[in-house]
Amino acid sequence: MRVLLGIGGGIAAYKAAELVRLLRGDGHEVCCCPTRHATAFVAPLTLEVLSGRPLLTEAYLEPGTGGREEHIDAAAWTEVLCVAPATADLLARLSLGIAGDVLTTTALAVAGPWIVAPAMHGRMWAQPQVQEHVERLRTRGVRIVGPEYGALASGESGWGRMAEPTKIVAEITAALRPGPLQDRRIVVTAGPTYEPIDPVRFLGNRSSGRMGFAIAAEAAGRGAAVTLIAGPVALPTPGGVRRLDVETAAEMRQATLAAAADADAVVMAAAVADFRPAAVAPVKIKKGEAPPAPLALARNPDILTELATAAPGALRVGFAAETGDLAREALAKLERKGCDLIVANDVSAEGIGFASPDNEVTIFRRRGEPLFLSRRPKEEIARTLLDLVTQELAERGPSPAAGR
Ligand code: PMT
Repeated sequence: MRVLLGIGGGIAAYKAAELVRLLRGDGHEVCCCPTRHATAFVAPLTLEVLSGRPLLTEAYLEPGTGGREEHIDAAAWTEVLCVAPATADLLARLSLGIAGDVLTTTALAVAGPWIVAPAMHGRMWAQPQVQEHVERLRTRGVRIVGPEYGALASGESGWGRMAEPTKIVAEITAALRPGPLQDRRIVVTAGPTYEPIDPVRFLGNRSSGRMGFAIAAEAAGRGAAVTLIAGPVALPTPGGVRRLDVETAAEMRQATLAAAADADAVVMAAAVADFRPAAVAPVKIKKGEAPPAPLALARNPDILTELATAAPGALRVGFAAETGDLAREALAKLERKGCDLIVANDVSAEGIGFASPDNEVTIFRRRGEPLFLSRRPKEEIARTLLDLVTQELAERGPSPAAGR
């Protein structure tokens, strides 16, 4: 693989030489692109000798390149971009798309994955503005490695040490490995729906979207092309995920049925409202006015049930939010809604279900024994659920969408 190694101007730049050596040892081609300040910490000749290639430097701005755009050529050569160490300055410029030097200009034109290994003093790392840049990069699908806790150049200890080169190499290798859901299309719904009463009021529920977002992130991490249909939630989009925001059950239905038509799997983690106000007041109902009493409700269509005819070839995964006999209700829903798997959670239990970081579920399948997962972070539930989805899809054979 062809790795472009951007090197920032910090003391950890000396570790870049080891990183080049390890990458070359694993059979990768490496082109080094140190910033001007990085060359004060690591000698250009060292990088050139270890990589066996000329460096990509600011000389690209000078006449004599025969009119070629070196940063575009370099980006086209690059299969994966690794920036190590990434200083606070580089993190900010990479996150905001400020392209003021050869490294950041080339980075913007790289089509492949980015791996970024921050390194700085612990107090700098803790600054909210630095964290915002890291979060922005992460939500765009950039893999952030480290930093680690340990001795810093100042003599203090803290978070800010660059991750060890072996760890960075492992991350680069993982980014290049095709995931088990490569060529699969997965649709995930998440969050609540809001059903308007008037322009400012609605019927809704407490779903935060966390469960569905964790599933979408996990599926994307395994290489699937993920469409995430999100009700009104305040969560960042996971990296590599296509997100469609909707508000009502009708909008979620329309978006889900359209996206599911050529999906390999659909996971309905959204808490779709079963009912909506039968009529929506065109203007805000005044406090003094008598509200329609009782509020007349109309039944919403059941999206999951409709998927049995709209996407008969897709693996259909439902969730069952229960407060009573979990197994009986979930198995009845599995049959009634025609799904292949159903994930049952007790939404009356403390600390799990709606809006909490954890969940506790039992996964019922058409084939196989139920699988109980005791209380754990929703990301871990997502991992196990995606193991089952990956296994079921593998048993069904190649994606009908492959090659389209
Ligand atoms: O979002 P979080 O805060 O992380 O919380 C997660 C969760 C508790 C919302 C999630 O784990 C969950 O249980 N989601 C399903 C909630 C729900 O609507 O359950 P239900 O038993 O009412 O519906 C069963 C299934 O039918 C669900 O897959 C639901 O998406 C689907 N459904 C329901 C109604 C409807 N009109 N159309 C549907 O497709």
